[in-house]
Amino acid sequence: MNPLVQPAPRGPLLGVNIDHVATLRNARGGSFPDPVQAALHALRGGADIITFHLREDRRHIRDGDVQGLREQVGAPLNFESALTPEMLDIIERMRPQMVCLVPERRQELTTEGGLDVRGQFDRVRDACARLGAAACRVSLFIEADPAQIEAAAASGAPCVELHTGAFANAVDAGDAELARRHLERLRNGVALARAAGLQTNAGHGLNLQSTPPLAGMPEMRELHIGHALVGHALFVGIEQAVRDFKACIEKAAGAALGAGR
Ligand code: PXP
Repeated sequence: MNPLVQPAPRGPLLGVNIDHVATLRNARGGSFPDPVQAALHALRGGADIITFHLREDRRHIRDGDVQGLREQVGAPLNFESALTPEMLDIIERMRPQMVCLVPERRQELTTEGGLDVRGQFDRVRDACARLGAAACRVSLFIEADPAQIEAAAASGAPCVELHTGAFANAVDAGDAELARRHLERLRNGVALARAAGLQTNAGHGLNLQSTPPLAGMPEMRELHIGHALVGHALFVGIEQAVRDFKACIEKAAGAALGAGR
């Protein structure tokens, strides 16, 4: 195996997305459960990164949460954001360690599809330069599409996050052939991104069944997981839920390392 793509024995880092804790809080309009507290519990369970998405409509995470995260969370924060002037201003003020630029449509239930880097190349390139100057590591949330990966590499972003939603949905639906095809596409995307010098992360829709094939990819550096982890936490508590996802990642990475020897 190429030593440059040796998997980390413990596998990709886990970014825990806490948006759905805020969704639950907002259902009753009060302050409980608090996503900042959830982040602190997730870190006690072994989360490596805390991920959140401040949407334009503030449907889950709110500005006060962002402030609380900045003040109380010592771990790296990954701020998912649409490419809008308002969000770029907020990010520049807050200076999270990581920013993931995502497409955003008001009517969608969750982030559907990847960012069209190719179609708005100048805007993305300018945002990457601006956020890079604010010391934020920029990642672009894209489909595993060669044209988008090429555009991402040219935009100056150091990182991409590949959209795993279609693969995860196929796994959930029990459609093994479709899952195999989506996984192949992701595998090719990871190889292309690596060859273009990009750090490669992935996320969306992942659960304990769909995480292992991604965690076992030697070049994968971070997995960002929210809905399934927060759902699992309802049954086992958030610290245990994080431990379960970390164990799942480490087992898959360990197996891949063993297989590659
Ligand atoms: N990565 C990105 C860029 C996202 O937008 C989301 C959803 O906010 C996730 C990962 C996490 O997705 P899920 O909640 O389905 O695990």
